Amino acid sequence: MIIETLSTFPLMYESVMGSSMMKRARERGIIDFTAYDLRDWTHDRHRTTDDDPYGGGAGLVMRCEPIYEAVDALCGRPAPEGVVTGREQPLTGPAPQHPQGPAPTTVFLTPCGRRFDDALATELAGCERLLFVCGHYEGIDERAYDLADYQVSLGDYVLTSGELASMVVIDAVVRKLDGVLGAPDGATDESFVEGLLEAPQYTRPAVFRGREVPAVLLSGDHGAVARWRREQSLARTAALRPDLLCQAPLTPADRSFLDSCASSGADPAAHGIIFR
Ligand code: ADE
Repeated sequence: MIIETLSTFPLMYESVMGSSMMKRARERGIIDFTAYDLRDWTHDRHRTTDDDPYGGGAGLVMRCEPIYEAVDALCGRPAPEGVVTGREQPLTGPAPQHPQGPAPTTVFLTPCGRRFDDALATELAGCERLLFVCGHYEGIDERAYDLADYQVSLGDYVLTSGELASMVVIDAVVRKLDGVLGAPDGATDESFVEGLLEAPQYTRPAVFRGREVPAVLLSGDHGAVARWRREQSLARTAALRPDLLCQAPLTPADRSFLDSCASSGADPAAHGIIFR
């Protein structure tokens, strides 16, 4: 997968994209990542990417011209007829890496976007090429969003930087790609994939400061372990994220387990359900 970002702080990606799983995914050739500097598509001496908001108000708004110019250049598209780009200086940053590549799916990070979740990560993981456009400051000129295939929000709060938001999305997408995680079912056997929260996990020691690992996990009975994990998952989700249950694909056995929890009292500990 080709992953590109367009922003005014490309160096922010160095640590995240150069460490751990993202580094491994790049080394294995699973992703080809480039962070472009939007300032390379400006034409003034100060490489200005923002300006005062029309109508007044606090903060600065990112201008749409460099964004359009950059996206056109990254896609190998000529500027539309009649548009004079008037570039004074040649590009100072890396030249577009994939001008002949597949057309990118463009993802703009904004608090007004579609709420990011596992389903959207899976959808984006199916794309051949992703281009993340990241705002900073107060936001982006509304006309730039005409370029967006997706507008994505991490949640109901405001970050100072779309770069941070894009890194979260990239991480969640890349770990779904074949070959990135070690275990074959690493990205399928976890929270949200089945529409539920994950069951608790343990490793050695079996007893830590008096707290024991649940006996079933030491039993070697794979069927019992699977059943226990499913029940923990169901009960945790019912208690902590009941909103997820309405959407989750539940079997008749799941439903009768949840009914038995509900009818036999509210105390999850009574069912051996573990909460932090
Ligand atoms: N940029 C600023 N806040 C954001 C958010 N919550 N999600 C995505 N991008 C953002």
